[in-house]
Amino acid sequence: MKVLLHSLLAAAAIVVATPASAQFAKPEAAVKYRQSVMALMGNHAGRINAQLKSDKPNFQAIQSSAALMETLTKYQFEGFIPGSDLVANTNAKPEIWSNQAKFNDYAKKLQGEVVKLSSTARGGDVKAIQAQFGEVGKACKSCHDDFQKEQ
Ligand code: HEC
Repeated sequence: MKVLLHSLLAAAAIVVATPASAQFAKPEAAVKYRQSVMALMGNHAGRINAQLKSDKPNFQAIQSSAALMETLTKYQFEGFIPGSDLVANTNAKPEIWSNQAKFNDYAKKLQGEVVKLSSTARGGDVKAIQAQFGEVGKACKSCHDDFQKEQ
């Protein structure tokens, strides 16, 4: 029993110490992963936008998309592993890896704004949700302006 516990603890330590790059078999998989998460973020931002423009916004739909976005931002930047800027179909600029501090700042900024969006959405005040949604949009755009290739 003691041995089992010991090996479980050792396994847990390995999981904690494993870098994000170990989650992906090859750089192509990391690119696919990050583009997929980004695409989901874009889709759910679009859904919230549509509700905010409607005469009768569906608050449950807004809350559900905001909650999903909050979860997704925890994984959104995992796929940006070293070497994945060389994958042919990526639109990530190589500056992400030469200016990682700035990229991480943008990532953290987005995470903070999305947490606020999710809590504001639960309040059900359209004007407040619109204002916070605007902040999220700015956080997406400022990173794309610097670190996403023109398409
Ligand atoms: C910290 C930087 C950063 C932030 C913040 C960010 N993105 Fe991105 N996004 C990128 C980069 C870099 C790419 C290009 C990824 C690639 O092609 O490998 C990208 C790609 C995308 C794509 C294209 C995905 C595809 O199908 O190829 C969408 C859609 C997108 N982002 C939506 C969003 C939305 C919506 C937000 C905000 C809620 C957001 N992003 C926030 C950096 C960011």
